[in-house]
Amino acid sequence: MSFLPSRNRCPYRLDGGAADVHGEAAALRALGPAARVELPGGVPAWSVTDPGLARRLLVHPGISKDAHRHWPAFIDGDLPADWPLRIWVDIRTVQTAYGPDHSRLRHPLVPAFTARRVRALAPWIEETTGALLDDLAKAAAAAPDGVVDLRTHFASRLPWRAVTTLVGLPEAMHDRFQAVNDTVFTTDLSAERADANAAEAARLLADLIVLKTEQPGDDIASALVDAHREGLIDERELADNIWMVLGAGYGTTANLLDHAVVNLLTHPDQLDLALSGRVGWDQVVEETLRHQAPVASFMMRFPTEDLYDEPTGLTFARGEALVINYAAIGRDPRVHGADADLFDITRTTAREHLAFSHGPTYCLGAELARLEGRVALSALFARFPTLGLAVGRDCLTPLPSLIFNGHREIPVRLEGNVHS
Ligand code: HEM
Repeated sequence: MSFLPSRNRCPYRLDGGAADVHGEAAALRALGPAARVELPGGVPAWSVTDPGLARRLLVHPGISKDAHRHWPAFIDGDLPADWPLRIWVDIRTVQTAYGPDHSRLRHPLVPAFTARRVRALAPWIEETTGALLDDLAKAAAAAPDGVVDLRTHFASRLPWRAVTTLVGLPEAMHDRFQAVNDTVFTTDLSAERADANAAEAARLLADLIVLKTEQPGDDIASALVDAHREGLIDERELADNIWMVLGAGYGTTANLLDHAVVNLLTHPDQLDLALSGRVGWDQVVEETLRHQAPVASFMMRFPTEDLYDEPTGLTFARGEALVINYAAIGRDPRVHGADADLFDITRTTAREHLAFSHGPTYCLGAELARLEGRVALSALFARFPTLGLAVGRDCLTPLPSLIFNGHREIPVRLEGNVHS
């Protein structure tokens, strides 16, 4: 089958506020396997919505993520000075590296994510989850109407504790790092706010690096400090990679927990299946990843040469920006059927998603995120089986981000709701 390239059409203008991620994904899918889009700031790109095409591009050796080397618009200074997505391509990390640089930057991170290391974290995650649920109950008891924001008090908190522990961030630095992290990756920030955030992030990272140089530990920040001392990574890569891991492990997993809880609370039949043990929590996690990809789209990739994709008949020119639209890919009706938009934890294709990417850039934290998901969801619903939303689902506001797919807050009551 060959698709008409949408080169002659007006590009589809993406909503930087991301008010309707899946409505937009469906509209893009209707335009073909990849559609020409306009990112905030008028920046042109392709959004790739077809699972097969995405898989081919994700393993293609001629696709780079390094804007400094392979994105002419960035290199030539053609982007708006206050472009809200600049940080995603400017940062020097494993997520923006190409070829041997990617392997070089991935290498020092790998030991922290082996199956053995992740398994060893399980008791700590269970204990921490229990303590966070105690705090959640206290927060609800202190609220005059018993309503508490589950996103702030639980869905974000567990991933933050987990990633700060892995990175080796001392507790005294948690709040300042979290405050910057909460806003730095949103895609609708003012230029002033973005600059202030970047300056604060740089100060915090410098303090952390001094600390880890003087008092190293068995953690990711210390491993990166070592790699820097051995000349394997430069000073900027050291700071940027610490920052990147904190961001990569935090908002993503918070979004997974967020959507799983919201979907279960608004589908009592599904919650019943999970609570009764007829469907495992691992399946809840996979269906949530498919149905609500926590990373909706990832910025960006660039062909190093003109690239012709034979199955689709599309050509991606050298230096054009490509965005992989993981949200659209998870709901492809050719993979998941006509009801792909439905949340269904019994779905046999639930695991056939690309929410953790594919190929050499496959998420390093995937197994950790899955573990956090299983532990957090089973413990939350065991402790509060009559948990319920305090507002209608339509009143939940999406995060204003093209990248992170979650809600700003999830007001809940912990008890007294009847599900079925
Ligand atoms: C549900 C949770 C998560 C989701 C959905 C997720 C998703 C992703 C995706 C889509 C990518 C590839 C982006 C691209 O190149 O297109 C990625 C890469 C990555 N993720 Fe995750 N992630 C999650 C949790 C985590 C956690 C918990 C950590 C670490 C604590 C982590 C660390 C990383 C790292 C280091 C990479 C870069 C891998 C590379 O380029 O070699 N992620 N993740």
